[in-house]
Amino acid sequence: MSKELKIILIGVGNVGFHLGKELHEVGLEVNQVYSRKITKAKRLSKIIKCEAIKNLEDISKEADIYILAVPDSAIENVAANLSKQIPLSKLVVHTSGATPSTVLKPYFKNYGIFYPLQTFSITRKVNFSNIPICVDSNLKKHRASLEKLGRRISQSVHQINDQERSILHIAAVFVNNFSNNLFTIGEKITSTEKLPFDLLKPLIQETVDKIIVQSPHEMQTGPAKRGDNTTIQLHLKYLKKHFPEFIEVYQTMTQNINSKLSKIILRQKK
Ligand SMILES: NC(=O)c1ccc[n+]([C@@H]2O[C@H](COP(=O)([O-])OP(=O)(O)OC[C@H]3O[C@@H](n4cnc5c(N)ncnc54)[C@H](OP(=O)(O)O)[C@@H]3O)[C@@H](O)[C@H]2O)c1
Repeated sequence: MSKELKIILIGVGNVGFHLGKELHEVGLEVNQVYSRKITKAKRLSKIIKCEAIKNLEDISKEADIYILAVPDSAIENVAANLSKQIPLSKLVVHTSGATPSTVLKPYFKNYGIFYPLQTFSITRKVNFSNIPICVDSNLKKHRASLEKLGRRISQSVHQINDQERSILHIAAVFVNNFSNNLFTIGEKITSTEKLPFDLLKPLIQETVDKIIVQSPHEMQTGPAKRGDNTTIQLHLKYLKKHFPEFIEVYQTMTQNINSKLSKIILRQKK
């Protein structure tokens, strides 16, 4: 894929903002960025020196690739509207882990996926070089060109089909979304009790460091793993009094760690 590749980015939220910056930083040409709110489009366009647009009618028909970085629920609608503005032969991809590429099929002859398997928040800079970029397309030549595009920003580029990507996304929800929610519970408990959440950060860090090199299943520790019912009962008693909303997740996680612990044990003793 040559330096002259022209890219248009539709959606400048968590993914679009960082992807746009990265594509620009590696020397690729992002011609336009689109957002329904022009201020958001301009926030990125000023950084990457391109045109900001808020109407799809203003979109250039000259780009080689159109990247839809919009919420999953909006992909089809945006694709339908876009198809009224650009030739149907253009390559249009989206960045979702969960939505199949075929959602674009009714609107474009050439469609695909450019899914960065990472968590993005607009306020946090990410290092793209090791982010797995999952690419796919209905045409072999586009799979190859998307792979090439991915390699411009990352060393980890993979051809992953819709089925595989949807499975990866389920696993990603567990390892990121759910673990982050568990950190949030830890933060809520410590801050309510006026204890510093910082005290837990080395533990969080070590949990992640360990599973990078060893199986998380083998690294599991704690009262559930040990079958330590006395400690579990103490925890449940405390939660019942102070955070009843977390009892169910505590019980579910405990049972999931150690299926030998029966539901009776996990029920809090009177
Ligand atoms: N965040 C992540 O960690 C992550 C990671 C990998 C992949 N993804 C995927 O990347 C895609 C974008 O996610 P995101 O987190 O970047 O979302 P986001 O932060 O909510 O940004 C979505 C962007 O789309 C625009 N938008 C929203 N609704 C729209 C509509 N109906 N029509 C046109 N534009 C609309 C929003 O701006 P305006 O409202 O101003 O138009 C915004 O620029 C999703 O498919 C998501 O599954 C997300």
